[in-house]
Amino acid sequence: MSTTTITVTINGETIEETVPVRMLLVDFIRERAGLTGTHIGCTYEGVCGACTVQLDGEAVKSCLMVAAQADGHAITTVEGLAEGGTLSPLQRAFNEQHALQCGYCTPGILMNMDEFLRENPDPSDEEIRHGLVGNLCRCTGYAHIVDAVRQAAKETG
Ligand code: FES
Ligand code: FES
Repeated sequence: MSTTTITVTINGETIEETVPVRMLLVDFIRERAGLTGTHIGCTYEGVCGACTVQLDGEAVKSCLMVAAQADGHAITTVEGLAEGGTLSPLQRAFNEQHALQCGYCTPGILMNMDEFLRENPDPSDEEIRHGLVGNLCRCTGYAHIVDAVRQAAKETG
């Protein structure tokens, strides 16, 4: 099996690892970095959004990339959203608005919406819904998720 050595910064910590060239980024994050908050929901098809992380601040589905593509880049996972044990405004809003039930989809939605709010600090509900098209949730019906994103936008926008 052909391998390559990559250097990646994850949540501010730089790690160097030798990985199979075909290893997916999501598997690297979970198995090599041990950050299991990034989920796999759709057998690596890019459909569910549960594996969403940020690559240099941009939300990406980590099942659609190989780890080698992240060489030299900075990744943020859901574990990197809270600062010093304090939930981010978006995380707090999800909690207060009851925007999760089983929570399986939540890390991916948080990472996507965190970037979305940076790009759209004052979004309409329609824009929030549109921003969520790449994230599937089987539990909530989305209404509370939209409420939470709206609350976070009001607090931070
Ligand atoms: S596991 Fe990546 S989109 Fe579903
Ligand atoms: S809270 Fe269960 S899938 Fe979204």
